[in-house]
Amino acid sequence: MIPAEQKRIVRQGYDMLSRVYRGDDTPDDHGDYAAWVRILAERLPPHSPVLDVGCGCGLPATKLLAEHFEVTGVDFSEVQICRARSLVPKARFVCGDISEQPFQAESYAAVVSFYAIIHLPLTEHRGLYNKIASWLRPSGYFLASVGHFAWSGVEEAYLGVAGGKMCWSHADEATNVRWIEEAGLKVHWTRFVPEGDSGHTLVFAQKPPFEDWRR
Ligand SMILES: C[S@@+](CC[C@H](N)C(=O)[O-])C[C@H]1O[C@@H](n2cnc3c(N)ncnc32)[C@H](O)[C@@H]1O
Repeated sequence: MIPAEQKRIVRQGYDMLSRVYRGDDTPDDHGDYAAWVRILAERLPPHSPVLDVGCGCGLPATKLLAEHFEVTGVDFSEVQICRARSLVPKARFVCGDISEQPFQAESYAAVVSFYAIIHLPLTEHRGLYNKIASWLRPSGYFLASVGHFAWSGVEEAYLGVAGGKMCWSHADEATNVRWIEEAGLKVHWTRFVPEGDSGHTLVFAQKPPFEDWRR
């Protein structure tokens, strides 16, 4: 599938399935997000600038991040971003393709991306890691869920919704770690995050110079 077609399917899919994927009443303790946000809250000063790549409707991750940081969320689904603006008024949101955003070099203390890079055409993953590395300040953190197993595919009825077509494409953990390190970040650790009979990798990386990452 050509990249533009994959992106069209993903964008239209989340426009259609936004509320099925995540309701307005999603609690803060949904999934592992609160623990993931704590990883950054324990390391970064309050009000640090943080970018949430593929933020969706903002619940719960962007909302939790915005309790500590100055957060910018970016997503190319208009429905997701429209909901995020009303659900998380403390954050700033940009509607657009993450691979086309002209964020300033060294402008973020951390970049997070949960379950979003796995939707990007595989040929664009390395380029995105390079951009994320450039957007990070020295010592900045990258915390993201990426592919654990290599897989590309299409579902015709994602989340059980007829017509809810969705695409994914991702490399395995070792390849993701290599690409992230080739982008100039140091991967401090990875964790397997199970989901049904499969799962993703949570990766925690940092731009040099490194400071006190074991805290
Ligand atoms: C599975 S949802 C995850 C949302 C949120 N991060 C969470 O964990 O709840 C993936 C999100 O990534 C967004 N996304 C996928 N590819 C994107 C791209 N190329 N540019 C911007 N957003 C993208 C989708 O629109 C969708 O909202």
